[in-house]
Amino acid sequence: MCGIVGYIGKQPALPILLQGLRRLEYRGYDSAGVAILESRKQNLEYSSPVLERVRSVGRIDALDERVRQGGKLTGGTLGIAHTRWATHGWITEENAHPHTDCTGDLMLVHNGIIENYREIRARLGERHALQSKTDSEILAHLIETHYKGDLRAAVSSALQHACGTYGLAVMHRAHPDEIVAARLGSPLVIGVGDGEHFIASDATPMLPYTKRVIFLNDGEIATVFRDRLPVVNLKSAIVDKHIEELDWNDEQAQKQGYPHFMLKEIFDQPTVLKDAIRGRFNMEEGAAHLGGLNMSEDEMRAVKRVSLIACGTASYAAMVGKYAFERLAGIPAEIDVGSEFRYRDPIVDQHTLVFAVSQSGETADTLAALREAKRKGAYVRGIVNVIGSTIARESDGGTYIHAGPEIAVASTKAYTNMVAVLLLYALQFGRLRRVTVATGQRLLQAITKAPGQIETILSRGGDIERIAQKYKGIEHALYLGRGINFPVALEGSLKLKEISYIHSEAYPGGEMKHGPIALLSKNFPVVAIATQDQMYSKMCSNIEEIRSRRAPVIIVATEGDVWARELSEDVIYVPPTMELTAPLINTIPLQLLAYYMAALLGRDVDRPRNLAKSVTVE
Ligand code: M6R
Repeated sequence: MCGIVGYIGKQPALPILLQGLRRLEYRGYDSAGVAILESRKQNLEYSSPVLERVRSVGRIDALDERVRQGGKLTGGTLGIAHTRWATHGWITEENAHPHTDCTGDLMLVHNGIIENYREIRARLGERHALQSKTDSEILAHLIETHYKGDLRAAVSSALQHACGTYGLAVMHRAHPDEIVAARLGSPLVIGVGDGEHFIASDATPMLPYTKRVIFLNDGEIATVFRDRLPVVNLKSAIVDKHIEELDWNDEQAQKQGYPHFMLKEIFDQPTVLKDAIRGRFNMEEGAAHLGGLNMSEDEMRAVKRVSLIACGTASYAAMVGKYAFERLAGIPAEIDVGSEFRYRDPIVDQHTLVFAVSQSGETADTLAALREAKRKGAYVRGIVNVIGSTIARESDGGTYIHAGPEIAVASTKAYTNMVAVLLLYALQFGRLRRVTVATGQRLLQAITKAPGQIETILSRGGDIERIAQKYKGIEHALYLGRGINFPVALEGSLKLKEISYIHSEAYPGGEMKHGPIALLSKNFPVVAIATQDQMYSKMCSNIEEIRSRRAPVIIVATEGDVWARELSEDVIYVPPTMELTAPLINTIPLQLLAYYMAALLGRDVDRPRNLAKSVTVE
């Protein structure tokens, strides 16, 4: 969702800002803009600084082109930039950020939603000529009314009147040495360089320059100078901030020769899966130990329910976690999407362990659900990828999944690592209850074998591409799985629809006869996950039923399953594994199938229409 980049330092700001915007493209956007302040020297004297802004609908390339044509913004060393994902107002240049005030001296970029913008607008009255239909522009004018020469003070007083969420960066022609950045509910990270600072919605834009970062917390306002950045809270009290060191490297955030980030991230999985589990288990004891759990053994034994909250792909990983907790630990587990949990008055108490599962750690619904669970006294732990993200910081403990930067909007490697971490958590609880050393060892062996097995599947990508070629013209698809392969079907179906725009649904195999079977025809293929597990023979019956209706079937089967080949010419073989670890293996061919379908259809694989990587609004 919207992205902010800011720079103040010694280098020309424009290339840094444009490159930063490109690195935030994955979040999803529909227009972009940049503003730069330049103090030009004339006869050894600095003339009054020049503030210029360029905005454009569409891709960053269009903005870049417009900047080039105008020959503007070239010399300044301070600037802010933005990618907008429309919420209030059409996708137009007027609605793109940065927004300005009546004087044209102030520039502002904003992420989030100002909920009382209509009231503020009414209060501002006719004196303020608004150029856009956005809630964000209102803030620029509100700050203008509070401005008396001190930019930080003006931002601070204006924000007292704003309800809603914001991550924002503000610059002013009269303040050529500062950018004011503030956060409430929408993330902002400040990168610390040598005589320079970077501001962004997440750390990816600053990775080429620095790994030293400060995360702003809700209610904090930073005045970012070139050499220092005092931070205050909304009551203007100084806040002590610590610089944190990121362990992501810039290479991880590049395509490295792959045509799309999504494909690169699918191929990252064998490596990052090892990162997710390294040092977190003891094979000899058949046990897992995730230190971030922060619970004593007595507290762990007292847990009566596990509640997993997440959205989208993370919720399908969480569903695997539900099966694992129930199977290994015998603890009733339920999964809820964040947007439902937060409003349905869930039953959680001090014996409930809540996991908030999120790649970005910023998903608004998951975050709100986490806060609701905390309010009700549950133990709340995060399973998160982005280091220092809000969910990571607001949880009372938890685990980073170490998938590295995930840039493609479609989540792949984060899913796999979430599943791995959830399996380890389930084992950790299971070993205190009913799991034997031998069972624990078997599970750990299956998990540690998975990276190699994923490599095997990836090496057969060509076969999956051929299947994609055959089916790329379809308009609908049905995904079926049973037991722990049901979340796999859900995830495969989500991948297909979000990047190829082919309509697809997922059902538990047993539900097919209760409705979806009516859809089946020779133009309605079914992807059936029928690997060797306790539900295998039931899935076989489903496949027979599908074939009787002449619908084509693509079967995901275990290597050596001759019967699958007899039933369909489109079989994707996967290496054998335990039932609980099947999602680590069986999801991979479905990721590839979706990827190749979308790529062959010429879709914008990494940035599918209407979607945002990090959904920070409700
Ligand atoms: O950052 P999160 O894991 O919290 O994001 C949750 C969903 O928005 C995300 O998984 C979404 O469904 C992806 N587009 C799936 O590929």
